[in-house]
Amino acid sequence: MKRLAHISDLHFGRIDQRVVDGLLADLTAQTPDLIVISGDFVQRAKARHFEEARAFLRKLPFPYMAVPGNHDIPVYNVFKRFTDPFGHYRRYITNDFSPLHIDDEIAVLGINTARPVIMDFSEGRMNRRQIARVREVFCGMPDTVFKVLFTHHPFLPPPDLPKTQLVGRHKLVLPTLESCGIDLLLAGHLHKAYSGDIMSFHTQVARSILVAQASTATSTRLRNEANAYNLITVAHPTVTFEVRSWEGAAFTGGLVSSYRKQGNRWALQAQDTGFRPVDGGPNGSDPVAVRWESVIRHAGGEARGGA
Ligand SMILES: [Fe+2]
Ligand SMILES: [Fe+2]
Repeated sequence: MKRLAHISDLHFGRIDQRVVDGLLADLTAQTPDLIVISGDFVQRAKARHFEEARAFLRKLPFPYMAVPGNHDIPVYNVFKRFTDPFGHYRRYITNDFSPLHIDDEIAVLGINTARPVIMDFSEGRMNRRQIARVREVFCGMPDTVFKVLFTHHPFLPPPDLPKTQLVGRHKLVLPTLESCGIDLLLAGHLHKAYSGDIMSFHTQVARSILVAQASTATSTRLRNEANAYNLITVAHPTVTFEVRSWEGAAFTGGLVSSYRKQGNRWALQAQDTGFRPVDGGPNGSDPVAVRWESVIRHAGGEARGGA
């Protein structure tokens, strides 16, 4: 069994420090084998924002892998944008733009989709060299290894926003993901947490590829969603996604979705919202009371102190 924590869109320079501390505490408590970070470490690609991001990375108690996001490239410093777009990222985060982890149970590859020269700075894309890298790493790997590809930009839109811009050239990438048996795609960028199957949207794909999108883990730039990250448990042929979100005092468990592989399909086995009724309380099934009870249950005295 392997446990991955998928965090994204930290946006140092525009964070809530209590949420950053809460994230570190929750990651420590969940003991993931590996932390996957899908870009947007900083808000403005300034050195002082990257210094904060590096300080956070140094406190992570488990190994991590990362790719940059569009915010990790300067926007307003046009000279730097074109001469050395990833200079700060290289200096403060990593020189490795295509990190790879392989063991007997999981293979995880990161691909950089952020681009300095593109019509819309926030968009991203993959190139042919990167598609070849995906093929080299995953094709021919046994089915017993759970194969994960992570990028900043998404391959699947949110269920309620089907016209969302996806990673550029995704139509060129999908046949490789399909033929090489990728099991899971992780990404961020949209600051929305959802999961699903590529097949449900890209109807040309004839095999299941699961997707888990992460919300912003620590930024105050929220889009009607709480700060959250994904905790993913791989026990082949089963995989479970848990969305752990900030509830005002601590990160706490929310939606849990379990999938099981049957042939070429990942079938949804069970889903649990994570909310529990308050036993014997005067509010009965009041969702606010239920949510707060959940915070207290997970955070102990800390929640009461914050009330
Ligand atoms: Fe972002
Ligand atoms: Fe982004």
